[in-house]
Amino acid sequence: MSSTILIPGGAGYIGSHAAYLLKQKGYEPVVIDDLSMGNAWAASFGPFEQGDVGDTDFVRGVCEKYKPVAAMYFAAFIEVGESVQYPQKYFENNRDKASRFFKTANASGIKKIVFSSTAAVYGDTASAYTNGGGSGPISEFYPTKPINPYGQSKLEAEAYLRMLDADGLRSVALRYFNVAGAAPSSARIGEAHKPESHLIPRLIMPLIASNPNLLKAMGLEEGFTVYGDDYPTPDGTAIRDYVHVLDLIDAHIRALDYLIGGGETDIFNLGSGRGFSVMEIVDAVRKALNKPAFVPKLEARRPGDPAILVANISKAEKTLGWKPEHTLQNIIDDAALWHKSSFYQEAIKTKFGLAG
Ligand SMILES: NC(=O)c1ccc[n+]([C@@H]2O[C@H](COP(=O)([O-])OP(=O)(O)OC[C@H]3O[C@@H](n4cnc5c(N)ncnc54)[C@H](O)[C@@H]3O)[C@@H](O)[C@H]2O)c1
Repeated sequence: MSSTILIPGGAGYIGSHAAYLLKQKGYEPVVIDDLSMGNAWAASFGPFEQGDVGDTDFVRGVCEKYKPVAAMYFAAFIEVGESVQYPQKYFENNRDKASRFFKTANASGIKKIVFSSTAAVYGDTASAYTNGGGSGPISEFYPTKPINPYGQSKLEAEAYLRMLDADGLRSVALRYFNVAGAAPSSARIGEAHKPESHLIPRLIMPLIASNPNLLKAMGLEEGFTVYGDDYPTPDGTAIRDYVHVLDLIDAHIRALDYLIGGGETDIFNLGSGRGFSVMEIVDAVRKALNKPAFVPKLEARRPGDPAILVANISKAEKTLGWKPEHTLQNIIDDAALWHKSSFYQEAIKTKFGLAG
């Protein structure tokens, strides 16, 4: 059987790590990406075809050329705030184009798809943690009631993909919590978003970047801010679940093997199963960068941010035999190495139009 795996969105942060790890494990990754958000330099682990996942002729042509046996689908827009402002942009790309891709891929002989979904499909998770009555970490049984177009568009893409099960397409939707970290430096890939809204890069960058224009362009000229220190958590800051990107991709490869081995269409949460407060992340960054005296700015809570959001990952552990191996300090150390690298520093300046 062919070991070629198609990776839509493979020039992005998580998709490039999928291509990297698949290649390491002997698969042949083929990336398709329109570079609307991704980086050509990140698509370096096999053939790269530039194009739009919503372009049926393009997708059909790539399938005919490489005959992939399966796809790992990462292509999407990912900014929650932007999705509230421009919902149509998100429904068109994350639901409609994704659905068109699934249909074309299925018709072109791809019968297994692993799909990037998100914990944003669960919406308001506060009731899981209410004193006494809550269910605790979020399992796949938690009701899906997204509170923004990003989460809704991903949930509707999941539903479309599941619907194609009747046409013989088996799929796994993986609902990620917070993904962070990077592959070893030799791989030269890591998080390089524009805009960069994720907590760990936003925390690290002001502590290492020497270019004030870059920090300004990234909205980081004021440094890193902690929002809220009066949550009902041990240190008062919000608790989230962070999973190392290589552990996350290990779960994707297990999901792929599960499908190839005859597994049924299903959904799994992916996180570390452990919660860390913002101040615990700050502490890990202090250690990684040797900045023991660093004190972040503090502002009031932001509306809509729950106190705690942690994944229950027992289903993925049981069915896929998966166990995240990296610690929080590993995640932060790897992210710090990536952001400090001259490769990233040059690439991000270019991305923000500040090269030279
Ligand atoms: N980063 C996280 O913490 C996180 C958390 C939960 C879920 N996710 C999901 O993981 C996936 C990947 O996220 P990421 O952080 O790597 O994002 P990213 O922006 O780095 O990567 C997405 C890639 O998809 C490409 N793309 C977008 N629309 C396309 C289209 N129509 N045709 C072709 N290519 C297209 C972009 O150019 C980009 O390279 C997304 O589906 C996202 O919803 C990410």
